[in-house]
Amino acid sequence: MSKIKKILIGTNNKGKYREISYLLPKKIKKFETGFFNLSSPEENGKSFKENSYIKASYFSKKTNMICLADDSGLEVDLLEGEPGIYSSRWGGKKNNFNIAIKKVLKKMNKFKDNWDNINSARFICCMTIFWPNGKSYSSSGSVEGTISKSKKGKNGFGYDPIFIPNGYNKTFGEMNPKLKMSIDHRFKAYLKIKKFFI
Ligand code: IMP
Repeated sequence: MSKIKKILIGTNNKGKYREISYLLPKKIKKFETGFFNLSSPEENGKSFKENSYIKASYFSKKTNMICLADDSGLEVDLLEGEPGIYSSRWGGKKNNFNIAIKKVLKKMNKFKDNWDNINSARFICCMTIFWPNGKSYSSSGSVEGTISKSKKGKNGFGYDPIFIPNGYNKTFGEMNPKLKMSIDHRFKAYLKIKKFFI
């Protein structure tokens, strides 16, 4: 199997692009979807895996390049798994993370009495690599944690300011980004596809 030397990172989300490129070995040449002026496909899959496949295959077919895409999101148990695969849509058309975070906290506040008893949540990530010959490979990873009652920290993106990973007392938003990227859902999914690069 020949190792991948250049790759299109199939996302228009800057935060994700930054974190996926950080995980990939330095010597791999990385391309952004913006370089090809591509907008994102409609994510109409029913799971993280289906959506990551939709993105990786779409961007690969548009560019004839090997593409790595992820679909990820936050599952809150008190909200019966919401926002889940709709995590980015909770931020509205402009993907405004402040709006998405407010929505989570507002919904959780409705169950105020239960918040302390059922405060478990997880980030999930599914990564798919799609090759121009139609071959694909998917892997997934997750990180368990709890939801902070208020936003804390300015690092990262998305729901990072309200997610406290188990074993730490800081949100991902307060944590050193390198530490986050060595324990999170994306890193765990990446470990399973690393073999295609190194
Ligand atoms: P999508 O995979 O492009 O549909 O978007 C996933 C959404 O989940 C992002 O827009 C974020 O809101 C959220 N998300 C995924 N991974 C992370 C993360 O590492 N930190 C914070 N939020 C995340």
